[in-house]
Amino acid sequence: MTQYISITGGASPVDFETAILSGRAPDNGLYVAEQLPKISIDQLIAWKSMTYTELTFEILSLFIDRSVISEQDLRELIENSFKSFSHPDVVPVDALGSNGDIFIQELFHGPTLSFKDVAMGFVVNLFNFFLKRKGERMTIMAATSGDTGPAAANACIGKETLDAWILYPPELITEEQVRQMTCITAPNVHAVSVAGCPDGSDDLEQLVADLFADKKFKAELNLSSVNSINWARVMMQTVHYFYGYFRTVDQVGEQLDFAVPCGAFGNLCAGSMARKMGLPVGKFIVATNENVCLQRVFEEGVFAKLPIVKTPSSAIDITIPLNFWRHLYYATGENPEKMKQWIGDFDKNGKVVFDSETHQALRDGFVSTSISNEETLATIKQVYEVEDYLLDPHAAVAVRAAKRLKSEPDKVKTLCLATAHPAKFPDVIAEALGFIPDKGRHASIEAAKQLKERIYSFDFEDMHKGVRQVMRNPAN
Ligand SMILES: Cc1ncc(COP(=O)(O)O)c(C=O)c1O
Repeated sequence: MTQYISITGGASPVDFETAILSGRAPDNGLYVAEQLPKISIDQLIAWKSMTYTELTFEILSLFIDRSVISEQDLRELIENSFKSFSHPDVVPVDALGSNGDIFIQELFHGPTLSFKDVAMGFVVNLFNFFLKRKGERMTIMAATSGDTGPAAANACIGKETLDAWILYPPELITEEQVRQMTCITAPNVHAVSVAGCPDGSDDLEQLVADLFADKKFKAELNLSSVNSINWARVMMQTVHYFYGYFRTVDQVGEQLDFAVPCGAFGNLCAGSMARKMGLPVGKFIVATNENVCLQRVFEEGVFAKLPIVKTPSSAIDITIPLNFWRHLYYATGENPEKMKQWIGDFDKNGKVVFDSETHQALRDGFVSTSISNEETLATIKQVYEVEDYLLDPHAAVAVRAAKRLKSEPDKVKTLCLATAHPAKFPDVIAEALGFIPDKGRHASIEAAKQLKERIYSFDFEDMHKGVRQVMRNPAN
């Protein structure tokens, strides 16, 4: 039986269903698999030519016992989750340019045009599946830096077991991302704008955490979360690392580097889990923008909260990368006592300075760099002009970081994760190129411009009271 435990050790082990539906463990810790599955090279060779959905089934079967979800139900859940993707390969890989050393994995062919769709559709389907079976209803919350919100809102449309409340900081995300949430007409999906958040989506994450900590409110609404604190999101994201690997390397066993634009570290935490499971990764390039919390922890061993900086890659303008804790747990010997100490120190002082042994362990196989706003814009322009490929600002951060940190002499290929479609960031594209090419547009974004919006709006100062009130008595 695969069991799920809290990284801070203060909760009894639970099965997959309980870990997913509760979001966080009762001791407020993040759930992780007690043991990550191990995958042999022979197994990897056998998986090499599988489609993305076949591979997803194989990998998820290692995390989910058949007594929790039957083989047929799991296959159906997975297939339904990728029906709305516009590319037959779901998460296709292609070379960037003719050098043969840098590759791009496009993770943005889902319904809301970001990599969040890859896991979110499945996770929401999973919630709906479990809740129907139990005959229950839940309220799920998500705070967003721009892409989780649209993905969650879209996935919840028409789900009879779920009400969704999506919180966003209006000044820090694009109008296109806002409309992907506010133009939804389904009555069970609610978009909540909170203006003036000093730390952007981190403040909204905190609001969600506070509402969860209010046991009476949590029970009254049967609250859960589909943010990347939810184990299922991170587990699901391990799959695109395997698939991207198979589509990029010539032979299984060869090393591959990955460059990943990082915000809350959910995506790259999944990558580090994939490596622990047996994926032959050379190194991970932790690509950050001018918000350098992750760069500091990998390069200096200091995990500290810093003021938010507004950048063109706004979805990774995040000051507290919550999933770093999961990575730390697996990288440093799975020790809940140490985790409790570190998280406690961070909560108290806003900072942890790791000893050199811990720093070595957490950075093993990782390098990091920070890409400036000017470099992001210049990369979009250069790649468009030279390669005729339009990067979104987050992929641009990854590509620039890959070019800076790739191995020399270059035997190892680098796969850059393109996490969003450029059409979500037209102002940045226009600033970089001076115009918006056709590749920077998308029919769904154009269509949303004509639709009516439905929004609850609050200011940061009154969000606690306001959000509680509307969640109890929705008016829209
Ligand atoms: C477009 C885009 N790229 C990268 C990221 C970073 O992903 P993560 O938060 O999992 O590090 C996000 C979300 O935060 C995103 O929306």
